Amino acid sequence: MMGYKVAVVGATGNVGREMLTILDERKFPADEVVALASRRSVGVEVSHGDKTLKVKALEHYDFSDVDICLMSAGGSVSKEWSPKIAASGAVVIDNSSAWRMDPDVPLIVPEVNADAAAGFTKKNIIANPNCSTAQLVVALKPLHDAATIRRVVVATYQSVSGAGKDAMDELFSQTKAVYTNDELINKKFPKRIAFNVIPEIDVFMEDGYTKEEWKMMAETKKILDPKIKLSATCVRVPVFVGHSEAVNIEFEKPITPDEARSILRKAPGCLVIDKQEPGGYVTPYEAAGEDATYVSRIREDATVENGLALWCVSDNLRKGAALNAVQIAEVLVNRKLLTAKKKAA
Ligand SMILES: NC(=O)c1ccc[n+]([C@@H]2O[C@H](COP(=O)([O-])OP(=O)(O)OC[C@H]3O[C@@H](n4cnc5c(N)ncnc54)[C@H](OP(=O)(O)O)[C@@H]3O)[C@@H](O)[C@H]2O)c1
Repeated sequence: MMGYKVAVVGATGNVGREMLTILDERKFPADEVVALASRRSVGVEVSHGDKTLKVKALEHYDFSDVDICLMSAGGSVSKEWSPKIAASGAVVIDNSSAWRMDPDVPLIVPEVNADAAAGFTKKNIIANPNCSTAQLVVALKPLHDAATIRRVVVATYQSVSGAGKDAMDELFSQTKAVYTNDELINKKFPKRIAFNVIPEIDVFMEDGYTKEEWKMMAETKKILDPKIKLSATCVRVPVFVGHSEAVNIEFEKPITPDEARSILRKAPGCLVIDKQEPGGYVTPYEAAGEDATYVSRIREDATVENGLALWCVSDNLRKGAALNAVQIAEVLVNRKLLTAKKKAA
């Protein structure tokens, strides 16, 4: 059987490396996978299961026989390259924020709105949401179906890997510098991140919210329901991998914590770990390397009518980025929305 040719752009990055691993783990039907990055990385070796791939330069690559391009090289690279790659006939699944709000580009979390993926043909581009949005909507969708969400208030505790590999290095070197009494240098973050938390992710907007907070609001509306109101506070914490969220939800209809637990236990992508005893919940350390969106600490929020509060944790590089992108590619294949070019020829 002829499989697909898949290109991973940003293959040396946090998300790109994870994409190569996940394509292998899930046995994605690819008969060729190519690793692309900037000119700086030509010849660098990256692993894809048992195989080692040599990185090639995006700018010289001919996409004419590529079926699917998983893009994870930032917004400006995507703005320039995704339309060119899409015009060569490859479907681009993009991880940056460049295309998410484009009305001609579906924004997909397969557990929530897989049906909307079919709309990719307008631009040949599909967008992956922000990492914090992806795990949130996986947990919200089954509750919304059951009791209709009116309003969400969320505070995030986001790991440094969400800001790329250089940000992970910054947490590591600052932490070391604290112990060795060396100077702490802030490059990726506006203040020191070691032994600290920073309530600023992405740029400030006119209304005082940050862009990351705006993205959670706008993307939740696009993926789940435009009627949902959402206010977010996004915070960077000194954790390497795994985003956590404290979520308060107001529903139209009554829903008890027990009902929510049993709904979430059956929901795709969710795992409920909620023992309501010391240690009976999930932390990012345990979620790292896993695929699930973990939901813990489900309880009533008695400050509003029909309110629930919960704690939600997931691996931001997996469900927040690479896994979600590969799941979107699986939707295209399983729903026969895409034929391999080799097969068609
Ligand atoms: N990390 C997350 O949790 C997360 C979640 C959702 C979305 N995203 C998005 O995913 C993208 C990548 O994030 P990341 O965390 O993987 O960043 P990263 O670790 O900094 O990696 C960036 C990647 O982009 C490549 N790149 C940069 N400039 C390029 C160019 N001009 N041409 C080709 N490749 C280029 C880099 O290649 P070189 O090594 O050659 O420079 C590297 O492979 C971003 O858009 C980010 O917003 C990330």
